[in-house]
Amino acid sequence: MSRFVSAALVGAALLVSGNAFAANYNAAAGKPTYDASCAMCHKAGMMGAPKTGDKAAWAPHIAKGMDKMTANSITGYKGAKGQMPPKGGNAKLTAQQVANAVAYMVSLSK
Ligand code: HEC
Repeated sequence: MSRFVSAALVGAALLVSGNAFAANYNAAAGKPTYDASCAMCHKAGMMGAPKTGDKAAWAPHIAKGMDKMTANSITGYKGAKGQMPPKGGNAKLTAQQVANAVAYMVSLSK
């Protein structure tokens, strides 16, 4: 089981690092996902999350590029300020939904 899970995670990471979403970021489609699964931390900047709309807080993340931020959001991410669970804790989200939610948040924060 755990071997299966880690293989799936590696697969997701490879998919993302292969620019799978480069042409497919849809910020408008990401709003409902953001509202339901991301805003709880990112709206107010809870638990060290970069606050939506805070350009200074987002700049170092945005500098990594969309694909890297999306990959980190799918697999989970630990930075200097805090930790984000995989897919923000909503395992039901597809990679594309996470990608769109990242695009939505970034569109409000740069
Ligand atoms: C439980 C709180 C929490 C939830 C829910 C959450 N995040 Fe995060 N997120 C964080 C924290 C904390 C960080 C940054 C940690 C740091 O910089 O040290 C972060 C960082 C990020 C980053 C920057 C990643 C990078 O590579 O720099 C992106 C993009 C992101 N979140 C997207 C999302 C998306 C999309 C969702 C919803 C699907 C979401 N987050 C839900 C807490 C959360």
